[in-house]
Amino acid sequence: MGRFSFVPEQASTFAPGVDHLLYFLLAVSVFFTLLIFGAIFYFAIRYRRRSDRELPHPPHSGLTLEIVWTVIPFGLTMVMFTWGAKIFFSESRPPDDAMQVYVVGKQWMWKLEHMEGKREINELHIPLGRPVKLTMTSEDVIHSFFVPAFRTKEDVVPGKYSVTWFQPTKTGKYHLFCAEYCGTNHSHMIGWVYVMEPGDYANWLRGGQQGGSLAEAGAKLFQDLACSNCHHADNSGRCPSLVGVFGSSVKLAGGGTVTADEAYLRESILQPNAKIVAGYQPVMPTFQGLVTEEGVLQLVEYIKSLGTKPAAPASGGPR
Ligand code: CUA
Repeated sequence: MGRFSFVPEQASTFAPGVDHLLYFLLAVSVFFTLLIFGAIFYFAIRYRRRSDRELPHPPHSGLTLEIVWTVIPFGLTMVMFTWGAKIFFSESRPPDDAMQVYVVGKQWMWKLEHMEGKREINELHIPLGRPVKLTMTSEDVIHSFFVPAFRTKEDVVPGKYSVTWFQPTKTGKYHLFCAEYCGTNHSHMIGWVYVMEPGDYANWLRGGQQGGSLAEAGAKLFQDLACSNCHHADNSGRCPSLVGVFGSSVKLAGGGTVTADEAYLRESILQPNAKIVAGYQPVMPTFQGLVTEEGVLQLVEYIKSLGTKPAAPASGGPR
């Protein structure tokens, strides 16, 4: 049990900004609460009825007063809105150089996977000072990944990927909570985030079980599930080649294009007929139920490892 403090420890680059906004909201609320209650008590006494024969004066309105008490709250709410939106957008847009970690929530645990293949349950080890991007999904119901010290909270939703990021500023051990009621053991769906010196992190990453990287696990799964029978690298198969597909713009049958991001790859594995690539038949079976969310992540990483945007300098501008 730590000492009680008004806000949790600040351990990410977001924390001071979020706290300043909180203090501002609090200050505005306290100021107006005191002003309003003060006025109520003052007027109640100052203008109380002193005798039975006393008649109230009819109220007279003033345009200036109306404008003042409209414009000031409007200005204040706009400040709150802009300030909050700014923080919201910066929290939802991970920088390009962020380190990738995958998160799968299930009743009632957090499963975390590093790119290098290291897996953790209810613990996340990360290096100090590097932005960390979390790509998250759930195997069952909605959970919410909450690290108070980082001021990071993002819902983890079945059937889609949600993304958040943070950059730790202090080594230490920080609470990880599930912040969305998810059943009987919701309160046990907790863990720790360990922020380590980069050197210690590298050691930690090397230690322990020697599994292959996520992409390597994905490559094996790609063979085991016989994806390789159809998806040939040289485009000679019945299905599109997956080399260089990640990040590219894919033309769809029936017109339209889609950017091949993580969500698109996931959908194509689980619901292959949702978006058919132009020039191909809907021959791929669904892998829903055959492959876990972790397996999907491994496959996605494997496909990413086959290269990003195709090397076609003649066509295709920046994403
Ligand atoms: Cu998971 Cu609450």
